[in-house]
Amino acid sequence: TVHTIAALKEQLAIFRSTTQSIGFVPTMGYLHEGHESLLKKARNENDVVVLSIFVNPSQFGPNEDLDRYPRDLERDLAIAKKSQVDIVFAPSIEEMYPTKMKIHFLAEEQSKVLCGASRPGHFEGVLMVVTKLFHLVSPTRAYFGMKDAQQLAIIETLVRDYNFPLEIIRGETIREEDGLAKSSRNVFLCEKEREEAPALFQALVLAKEHFQKHRSVIDAIQKATEHVTKNTNAKIDYLQLLEYPSLAEVTEDSQEMIVAGAIYFENARLIDNQIFNVK
Ligand code: PAJ
Repeated sequence: TVHTIAALKEQLAIFRSTTQSIGFVPTMGYLHEGHESLLKKARNENDVVVLSIFVNPSQFGPNEDLDRYPRDLERDLAIAKKSQVDIVFAPSIEEMYPTKMKIHFLAEEQSKVLCGASRPGHFEGVLMVVTKLFHLVSPTRAYFGMKDAQQLAIIETLVRDYNFPLEIIRGETIREEDGLAKSSRNVFLCEKEREEAPALFQALVLAKEHFQKHRSVIDAIQKATEHVTKNTNAKIDYLQLLEYPSLAEVTEDSQEMIVAGAIYFENARLIDNQIFNVK
C-alpha cells in the first residue's frame, strides 16, 4: 500500500523490470463485489494488479455527497489482499492535486445527457483524475464497470481520441440477489428504501423488453416510469433510452442501446442501466 506518487513509482519500477502486463482498477473505495469482480478479471489477465482508492473531489458538485462518501481503508485493504492485488495506491487530495488544476477537459455530446445533465462538471472531473491515474500507473489494461455505463463510454472516447496506450476492459454489473446493482452508496438506504430499490432494475428490464417487442422509445420509458412511481417513493432524476456508446438519440439504424435510470431516495441517488442489442 502506497500513499505517495514517489512510492507508487518505486513499487511499479520493481515490478516493471520483470513483468509484462499491468492491470489497473481505479475506484473510490468502500469496495464491494462489483469492484471485486473487476479485480478478479484484472488478476486473471495481467501479471501485476494495481488498485487505486481515491475519493476524487473534482468529480463531485458543490451540493453532492463528497464529505459523507463512505470510506473504510482498512476493510478495503483486506479485500485487496484477498483479491491478490499487488499494489494499492491510496493518495491524499494534496498528493493528487498539489496545485490548482489550470487545464480542464471539455467532454462533448456523451457528457450532456443522463448523469451529465444532472451533474454538470462530473465527467470532466472523472476525465481529469482518470488521465492523471493512467499517467501515474501506465497500465496495459484498465477495468471499468458497466454499472457506470456513461462513464465507461466517455473514458473509451478519451482513450481513443487522445491515443492513450492502454486497453479499456468492460466488466459486467454485479447485483444483489433481488437485482439491485451493488454500489458503495447503497449503505445510505433506509430499510424501506432498500426494499423499494430493486424497482429501478425491474423498470429498466421492463423498458428493454417492451422496446425489443414494440420498438417505441416513448412507450418503453412510460412503462419504466410507471413501475418506479408505483413501487417506490423515490424521485425520478431520469429514465432514458439512447444509442450506446454514442448516447445519441435512437434511430432506425441504432444497433446497441442503453436504457438508463437515476432515482433519488432521501440520502442516496441510485443509477442503473441495461445495455442490449435490438437486432
Ligand atoms: P467507483 O464508484 O468506486 O467505481 C469503481 C469502478 O467499479 C467503476 O469502474 C465502476 O463502474 C465499477 N463498479 C461499481 N459498481 C459496480 C457493480 N455493481 N458492478 C460492476 N462494476 C461496478 O467509478 C468510480 O469509482 C470513479 O468515478 C472513478 C472511475 C474511480 C474515478 O474517480
